[in-house]
Amino acid sequence: MTEPLGLGVVGTGDWGANLVRNFASLRDARLMALCDTDRERLSQAAARFPQARATTRIEDLLAAADVQAVVVAASAAQHYALVKAALEAGKDVFVEKPLALRVDHAEELVRIARDSRRVLMVGHLLLYHPGVRALKEMVQRGDLGDLYYIYSQRVNLGKVRKDENALWSFAPHDLSVILHLFEAEPVDVAARGSAYLQGNVEDVVFLHLRFADGRMAHVHVSWLDPHKLRKFTVVGSRKMVVFDDMEASEKIKVYDKGVDRGGQIVSYGDALTVRSGDILIPRISLQEPLRLECQHFVDRVRDRAAPLTGGANGLAVVKVLAAAQASLESGGVPVPLVQPARVG
Ligand SMILES: NC(=O)c1ccc[n+]([C@@H]2O[C@H](COP(=O)([O-])OP(=O)(O)OC[C@H]3O[C@@H](n4cnc5c(N)ncnc54)[C@H](O)[C@@H]3O)[C@@H](O)[C@H]2O)c1
Repeated sequence: MTEPLGLGVVGTGDWGANLVRNFASLRDARLMALCDTDRERLSQAAARFPQARATTRIEDLLAAADVQAVVVAASAAQHYALVKAALEAGKDVFVEKPLALRVDHAEELVRIARDSRRVLMVGHLLLYHPGVRALKEMVQRGDLGDLYYIYSQRVNLGKVRKDENALWSFAPHDLSVILHLFEAEPVDVAARGSAYLQGNVEDVVFLHLRFADGRMAHVHVSWLDPHKLRKFTVVGSRKMVVFDDMEASEKIKVYDKGVDRGGQIVSYGDALTVRSGDILIPRISLQEPLRLECQHFVDRVRDRAAPLTGGANGLAVVKVLAAAQASLESGGVPVPLVQPARVG
């Protein structure tokens, strides 16, 4: 039996508390240190996990020999500096999304991790969701035929952030899934949004992604909306799928619907027949995605294999976010992505 992996968590706020709880519950990990610059937040977390040392200084955590891996759940603006410091201290790192707020910063982190052979994993939580995994398997088996387009909705009335807009706060989730299903980066991105509540922080953003071969995706994110929606609609040439994470158990519905081309072509319209077949609700595991994600990180630190959502995946999402932000600031003109590449 090998020793449990020693972990330190930086940022014990709303989401950090969930990560702390999940990592602490894993049998092959041990929470060694907690760090937050906010003393009140830190003491709340420390009270629940007295076995971990508490500090307001990241230097203390990085100097500790019993902390082999660091979990960064501080606000997004801090990610770059904290991840860089942790990697340079020789730690493996899990960082919440987004990996960084600038493409060059994300590239630098990927490079440091690669050169120092450290594990760098980004918290693109949905890729660990059993529903998204089932959807990916359907796409890989060819059940849906050719993928035509995807649209997603991530809206609710919720936490209004001051330091990042709804694009950077919510869209990493949607974008990570879309890139994963399409296995490609978009050619260009157009985004429009509005800041209704405070200064220039957009509360609602509509995002349009254009891929090679005519595929496209649309993302709607907002924290100023009467509905709570967490939904993807995927349209393929053979079938269509809806993944609705607000459903308690029937999260995936596969629609055997489409438009087929007929045999005897008289006119173009006659050749198209609408097919409206059965709806299948596959059984999917109800395991908590966050726990699966945390276990994945611990497993990759142990076996040194590449994580499903490694640094390159984090960088691909940051590239789309940066192009979307540039589009947002220029009134919605499509902004091309640099170096389109397959991301797997
Ligand atoms: N995966 C998800 O579904 C999900 C959900 C919510 C938030 N998040 C991500 O988690 C991160 C944190 O979000 P949150 O809602 O918990 O924010 P939050 O503001 O509630 O918490 C952030 C904490 O980080 C601390 N902090 C900031 N700078 C620090 C530093 N230099 N060193 C140590 N601590 C520092 C703050 O004091 C605060 O307690 C963000 O990146 C966010 O995008 C992910």
